[in-house]
Amino acid sequence: LPLPYPDLTACTKSVISPIPDDPNAEQVECCPPTPLSEIKPYKIPVNPVKRIRPAAHLVDEAYIRKYMNAIEAMKALPDKDPRSFYQQAKIHCAYCNYGHKVKHPVTGEEVRFSVHGNWFFLPFHRWYLYFFERIAGELINDPTFALPYWNWDAPCGMTIPAMFVPEMSPLAGETRPNPLYDALRNPDHLPLNNDQDRCRQIVFDLNFNRAGGDNQLPDITRVCNNLAFVYRNMVSNAVDAERFMGNKYYVGCDIGRGAGSCELLHNPAHSWTGTTQNNNEDMGNFYSAGFDPIFYCHHGNVDRTWDVWRKLGGNDFGDQAWLDSKFFFYDELGDPVYVSVKDCLDEEKLGYEYQKVELPWLQARP
Ligand code: C2O
Repeated sequence: LPLPYPDLTACTKSVISPIPDDPNAEQVECCPPTPLSEIKPYKIPVNPVKRIRPAAHLVDEAYIRKYMNAIEAMKALPDKDPRSFYQQAKIHCAYCNYGHKVKHPVTGEEVRFSVHGNWFFLPFHRWYLYFFERIAGELINDPTFALPYWNWDAPCGMTIPAMFVPEMSPLAGETRPNPLYDALRNPDHLPLNNDQDRCRQIVFDLNFNRAGGDNQLPDITRVCNNLAFVYRNMVSNAVDAERFMGNKYYVGCDIGRGAGSCELLHNPAHSWTGTTQNNNEDMGNFYSAGFDPIFYCHHGNVDRTWDVWRKLGGNDFGDQAWLDSKFFFYDELGDPVYVSVKDCLDEEKLGYEYQKVELPWLQARP
């Protein structure tokens, strides 16, 4: 049976440690605002204006300005506005840390679920970014606005993109705070300076392990290891939908802990960027990840891997239970809507595509 969209009246606090049954888990309030009107099926606009999502390390100043303006406008909305940055960030917490519940279609029982560790990982995050991007575009009145993606699968993208780093605007002549900045990041992993043209800066380590700390490998070795890691998760281990996208999950059957290779590939950017203290805020914990603007840039690349995997011959699930599963969101006008997995499978229909870049990892078969 497909996953219905969450029963908002049953939403509870989310757990901070993502172990749902831990009785001592710290909890946090992440439920969305109560809809003021009926939740309607979302209608994808016909002939949408094209949005081209650029690689974050390749954007120019004009783009950075636009992007900063959009995120700044989102952050300026009142917290109770479902389109505010605050509410957008909480979407992740509620869906990923067991705040939401769905009514079991047969028994009527309220069942807790998460969109991680199962086949909802890619479609949920795709819809999440889709609305986030439309809200951002709406706030700056630009229907072509597209989110950037953190191209960590290519050597020049293997560092935290420069525009996210400084506390104050990186643009010449501006003195405003940088809305892309987040204080809760691992200081050891931030680029050393802001030179956008440099293809070298604290190389991201896809094999980073929080417990073990940073390895002392030379950059070139890290880059090669990263490329091999991408290859493994995009090709060797990604042989079918279940292996790439995650285990099948049916409402109430189990809690679904079977991450696909695309999710395993995506995890290191979270632990690498987040702090090593407390609950690894922001990026290192699902409850807080959405509060770092880089989250949406990281997930742009995750979403892009889905596209790349298909172009390499990957086939999506054909299961009706997956296709008909639903999620709840607020759209760019603040209207409550529900969407289906089957409606997000065609990016062209959704109106966006990714700037084409090379795939150096295709040559990095371990
Ligand atoms: Cu829902 Cu990268 O996480």
